Amino acid sequence: MDMKKISIAIIVIAALMSVVLAAEKKESPKAAAPKAATPKAAAPAPASGATSTTFSVFGSLAGAFIFTFFGYYLQLKTYFVLKSSKSYLDSYYLKIKLQPYQTKSESHNPSAKWLISSLQSGASAICQSASSKMTTSVERAQYSDRVPIRSIILRPDGGSGLAGQQARVGGWVKTGRKADKDAFAFLELNDGSCAGNLQIIVEADKGDLGQLVLTGTCLQVDGVLKLPPDGKKQKVELQVEKVIHVGVVDASKYPLPKTRLPLELLRDYVHLRARTNTMGAVARIRDELSYATKRFFHERGFRYVNTPNITTSDCEGAGEMFQVTTLISEAEKSEKNLIKNPPPSEVDVESAKLIIKQRGNDVAQLKSAKASKQEIGAAVAELQKAKENVLKMEERSKLQPGIPQKDGKIDYSQDFFARQAFLTVSGQLQLESYACALSTVYTFGPTFRAEKSHTSRHLAEFWMVEPEMAFAELEHDMDCAEDYVKFMCQWLLDHCMEDMEFFADKIDKSCIDRITMSAKTPFARITYTEAVELLTEAVKNGKKFENHVEWGIDLASEHERYLTEVKFQKPVIVYNYPKEIKAFYMRLNDDSKTVAAMDVLVPKVGELIGGSQREERYDVVLSRMKEMGLPIEPYEWYLDLRRYGTVKHCGFGLGFERMVQFATGLDNIKDCMPFPRSAGRADL
Ligand code: 4AD
Ligand code: MG
Repeated sequence: MDMKKISIAIIVIAALMSVVLAAEKKESPKAAAPKAATPKAAAPAPASGATSTTFSVFGSLAGAFIFTFFGYYLQLKTYFVLKSSKSYLDSYYLKIKLQPYQTKSESHNPSAKWLISSLQSGASAICQSASSKMTTSVERAQYSDRVPIRSIILRPDGGSGLAGQQARVGGWVKTGRKADKDAFAFLELNDGSCAGNLQIIVEADKGDLGQLVLTGTCLQVDGVLKLPPDGKKQKVELQVEKVIHVGVVDASKYPLPKTRLPLELLRDYVHLRARTNTMGAVARIRDELSYATKRFFHERGFRYVNTPNITTSDCEGAGEMFQVTTLISEAEKSEKNLIKNPPPSEVDVESAKLIIKQRGNDVAQLKSAKASKQEIGAAVAELQKAKENVLKMEERSKLQPGIPQKDGKIDYSQDFFARQAFLTVSGQLQLESYACALSTVYTFGPTFRAEKSHTSRHLAEFWMVEPEMAFAELEHDMDCAEDYVKFMCQWLLDHCMEDMEFFADKIDKSCIDRITMSAKTPFARITYTEAVELLTEAVKNGKKFENHVEWGIDLASEHERYLTEVKFQKPVIVYNYPKEIKAFYMRLNDDSKTVAAMDVLVPKVGELIGGSQREERYDVVLSRMKEMGLPIEPYEWYLDLRRYGTVKHCGFGLGFERMVQFATGLDNIKDCMPFPRSAGRADL
């Protein structure tokens, strides 16, 4: 049983006991007297309050038992964690484990708040006393001799407990300066394991200080950790004993100076920008959110399914797909080949045919002259060769430059997959086939959209998290989406505070408040019709939108952001959209005008999630496809899912980079992706 469950159990038991006691007091008029309502008053049992006394005694005993048990459990857990630990660092992990309780103690329930905070302070005390007794030693990275900087400076003591320890560290110099008439240099070293740097001190006899202080220089050094002089902000620094490796930098050419470059400019150096504070933090946040995603779905019984990147069906039917073909490269190749090695002319073919004739005559003559078997065999082989040569020549004479055509159209039967194929815009359709077998599944992979929109929210290649659930309807879909977003927000608060504080400091002051609010506040839920009413009302009250508002429009980003940022000031789920603006697979509602679609809108970003209940009725989905002019043949397999063993099901897609944008507050989605691709640009 985990600690969370235990604390919940305690709260539930305490709540039950108070309910029972309250009921008891109601039954007995004397026990209901104001004084008897307090625990103290319950102790001297009044004659008619025998049952109440029994409960109070029972309550105290049960309470004592629970607290003892919990205290024992906590100590035991601490003991085992510390016993199995190799270093002081584990006590830090233990402290991290307790963090969720701290957040919960902000609950409005005073008894839960009191209970959790006392448990927490007890746990911290145990943690502190245990860690103070521990022998201190540095933590090596598992597959390297280096000590990750994170494991030094992110300890609760900032690394001071490691003073005196030998450590080998590696990283890239963020800033450096020489001091004391060039007798030594101070360097800020970062290895990407965390946002913070380790200060290292190198004396002049250990290396070329002029080189070492340059931003971007890679260093690996051995040294001793020591306490810095009082008044310094860092808790520990490394006195270098030996420089092991230097990856030099030519400062006149290195494009990333120590001063901050605008993010837009950094996009010209996607291969180097991971070394900047911002992109390093984005990379760690992405990793944490990926891990949180896997945890969220795995722990709820969803199976991870790998849907194809190359597909022959257009999921969204929006015609924004990148085509996958070898026809163009093949055409280029054959054009080059034809120039080098032109096809045979008709005359060449005719003369090759004459050779066949001659060889045939040779065979006939040898046979009539009763030549040896060997001689005849050799002549037959020559004849065969001549025939094969003509076949090849005829084949080559048909070769034409350019892309193969048939009946005036491109002949895709000659393409790599013998049909038209594309990069996927969503794994949903294929995922549905697994949901209709494994019930709850999800996929998390790259998706591609040939959208030419140059907005701060669109990429041509982005990652999408898509769950799909059978035996579930729109309400379940919205619940899952809300829980998932909340889970990720809480994860960031519990595991990424160092990086989140960086974003709050440098990029968007409100980012921590935004994710804290999103983790704790129930999302608003409104129908599309209500959303349009609210927007119309806003227009009446003087709000100016660039895009006209009326029932039937596809909500623009400005509308979405007004709803979530101004009207509700929290995430909003809009559902039941007009069928005309949504995809063919969404379930038609009884009004025949709207479909069971839902979008999750969040501040800063607008649409974060798009999802729906799927149309599981064969006839309805078929007529929707026809209505929308979709070709039926490529979707026959999809219709099979409705022909055989159909089931109500639903799902959604979360744009992963938009989630990163929501969390970090970065203005442009291109900075939320390591190697962004957008119209006109695909570096590396
Ligand atoms: O709303 P969308 O188009 O939904 C689907 O693709 C569904 N098939 C998903 C499903 O139900 N399984 O896209 C889902 C999300 C959007 O809400 C948005 O966050 C993100 O994907 N998205 C983009 N992110 C970055 N760049 C783009 N060009 C995006 N297009 C959509
Ligand atoms: Mg959408």
